[in-house]
Amino acid sequence: MPSFGRRSLLVGGGLLLSACSRPLASASGTAEANLPIPPLLDARQQGQVINLRVQAGKTSFYPGRPSDTLGYNGSYLGPTLRVQRGDDVKLAVANSLSADTTVHWHGLLIPGELDGGPHQVIAPGATWRPTLPIRQPAATLFYHSHVHGLTAEQVYRGLAGVLLVTDEEERGLGLPSEYGIDDLPLVIQDRQFQDGRLVVPSGMMIAMQGRRGDTILVNGAPNPLAAVPTRLVRLRLVNGSNARIYDLSFSDRRSFHWIAAEGGLLERAVELQNLTLAPGQRAEVLVDFADGRTVSLVTGPDANASMMGMMGGAGMMGSRSGAAAHSPTITVLRFAPRPMAKSGARASAPDLLVPRVRPDPAKALRRRRLVLNMGMGGMMRSRGGMAMAINGKPFDMGRIDERVRLGDMEIWEVSGQMLNHPIHIHGVHFDVLRRGGERPDLLDQGARDTILVKEPVELLIRFDQPASTAPFMYHCHILEHEDSGMMGQFTVS
Ligand code: C2O
Ligand code: CU
Ligand code: CU
Repeated sequence: MPSFGRRSLLVGGGLLLSACSRPLASASGTAEANLPIPPLLDARQQGQVINLRVQAGKTSFYPGRPSDTLGYNGSYLGPTLRVQRGDDVKLAVANSLSADTTVHWHGLLIPGELDGGPHQVIAPGATWRPTLPIRQPAATLFYHSHVHGLTAEQVYRGLAGVLLVTDEEERGLGLPSEYGIDDLPLVIQDRQFQDGRLVVPSGMMIAMQGRRGDTILVNGAPNPLAAVPTRLVRLRLVNGSNARIYDLSFSDRRSFHWIAAEGGLLERAVELQNLTLAPGQRAEVLVDFADGRTVSLVTGPDANASMMGMMGGAGMMGSRSGAAAHSPTITVLRFAPRPMAKSGARASAPDLLVPRVRPDPAKALRRRRLVLNMGMGGMMRSRGGMAMAINGKPFDMGRIDERVRLGDMEIWEVSGQMLNHPIHIHGVHFDVLRRGGERPDLLDQGARDTILVKEPVELLIRFDQPASTAPFMYHCHILEHEDSGMMGQFTVS
């Protein structure tokens, strides 16, 4: 199990729950793995200072089977950071690895030099000290390594965590907000194991399909069970996988309310039975557990699975991970509801959430087109060197691909080749204007920073953050595609 604390829950010897962080009690031979809850670092409670240490460690995902992993202030993943709108938060990120790293604040609207992308390298032994001005609405964000060429491997080994922005408006809604009790961060990742130890697959097929695994971890635990109160619970779903796209639903097909996309709360809650979540995407949902019944969050097949079958043949498809990618439903996480202390949170999802002035497409001053290239030719030529590029150009740190004027609004048309690619753009939130030339899908609404390009999409983007000394990135969030060149950079000035 990861080294951070978890709520203790025994199954079999009478259910027992405590909200404090302590290791899993294993008095019962049938004790199930619990859902670990990453420790919460609240910036206000810490005088607006947050210290992160990037470290190597050992994690026993299965008892007695330690794996080499990476984490922030621990051996795998990192603490949940909570910051408030209007505050300035001082970060100190110390790199104790023997390799370079960076920490990117995915979804945070901050200037380029604070962004933690490939240009803000933290060398071994060095400490990076950005002060982050938090000037955006409440949202569930994500932080992770973004060192060029090694992002996929460092994230796979554990360098990711959850970043929460809160504000008055959100607090006024009475949403479930007791961290780890009725407000749960859920970092969903698939990983490959052999004899209980994490393996890091690589090679040509991996560059193409991304690292996928036969096991789904939530907050670093395989097949966890979460104890939840018999009332409305907020789940903050974070797809922290390198490549896998989830199609999430509940095993009893119960509906739930989707309340927030990457950029923050929606205008209205949307009742759903299924939610697609691509790598890098986040969604907040409200689920009612008042009936007390045990239920599982499950996923259907990856939207890219059939395409991978056509590309793949051997490799992943013949392996256990291939099987996992194709089986109809897989359990992500089980919930065991039980009565717990009452809270002040509301009993049902509100209809109206947060009003939002939608940007006006008529104000867009220019259009740009991005084609996410994935070519077979390059793969044939050089081993592992897939032709991954955007607009025909593989990523080059020394080349600025686009120059945008600060304060402008633009429309970016993004299309992709071969697979569904999640496009992510740093330093902005955008609206989906069109998908496949039509009105966007129900799931396209809200302020976004990562969106799945199945059909070509048109994104309406406002560039309010400067990036002149250090550019912002746009890239596919299948991390192996990004590392292989499906990334570009732009300045805003
Ligand atoms: Cu979540 Cu450029 O990344
Ligand atoms: Cu990002
Ligand atoms: Cu891609």
